[in-house]
Amino acid sequence: MSELTDKMNANGVVLQAEELTKRFGGLVALSNYSLALKPGEILGLIGPNGAGKTTAFNLLTGVIQPTRGRIALAGRDLTNSGPEDFAVAGVARTFQNIRLFRDLSVWENVAVGAHRRDGPGWLSTMLGLPRVWRAERALRDRSAALLEQVGLTDMVDRKAGDLPYGLQRKVEIARALATEPRVLLLDEPAAGMNATETVLLTEMLQDLASKSTDFSLVVVEHDMRLVMTLCSRIQVINRGELLADGLPEEVQRNPAVIEAYLGRSRGKRKGRGRIRAGA
Ligand SMILES: Nc1ncnc2c1ncn2[C@@H]1O[C@H](COP(=O)(O)OP(=O)(O)O)[C@@H](O)[C@H]1O
Ligand SMILES: [Mg+2]
Repeated sequence: MSELTDKMNANGVVLQAEELTKRFGGLVALSNYSLALKPGEILGLIGPNGAGKTTAFNLLTGVIQPTRGRIALAGRDLTNSGPEDFAVAGVARTFQNIRLFRDLSVWENVAVGAHRRDGPGWLSTMLGLPRVWRAERALRDRSAALLEQVGLTDMVDRKAGDLPYGLQRKVEIARALATEPRVLLLDEPAAGMNATETVLLTEMLQDLASKSTDFSLVVVEHDMRLVMTLCSRIQVINRGELLADGLPEEVQRNPAVIEAYLGRSRGKRKGRGRIRAGA
């Protein structure tokens, strides 16, 4: 227990970050970033390219360690812990650059996530014990159920690397869900998807979030329609600084946010950085 975990327990917060700063040499990728995520919350993290969004995710999942600041998850102070500790405490993520085992089947990729939680252990696996067969069968069934949840029922036996990008992203989501996370972080889940696929993804995520009041989601995404439809709260970062934190409609009207986005696409009539939903 620490002052940080006491405070988050008192406030009913599942994931807390306090004044996180990350430097890479002379570059401050993220500066004084704070977050208090409540169970059931769907938070959007938006900002122009290079703003520090992925850096925030890497810090919040133990992939990199902060130069300064503290992080706690579900009452455990995890500052300076590695990704395994974050996973055990209940955080899961997907990556901006898809990280699947391309030569394994879709279900086997998902099983990697489930195996981490309740697999039979390496010794049983080496010895090929009967309970391994049962465990394997259970893993396959469990993976198939998760794949159904993300709308990939027909893809269970396909090779992951053969799927289009949009579907590979859904496999990553199913794999992350297999660890039964309290908090799921998605880094640009709609990248590589067309408009129809993005709408289906939005509905799938809404459905997922509605299944449990304890489950929280943090989404980094450029597709404003997805962000504005899905998220109950939005944080905007620009050049490593938190620019705004509020309800979607507040953030959309915030002059500093509009400037950060439009400032970049000035001269281009339709920049990628448009903040309006439906852009
Ligand atoms: N491992 C790293 N080493 C050096 N610089 C990095 C590293 N990771 C990110 N950066 C830099 O930090 C800044 C923020 O990057 P990133 O968090 O990936 O932004 P975003 O995800 O918002 O596009 C960028 O200037 C990027 O080049
Ligand atoms: Mg990024």
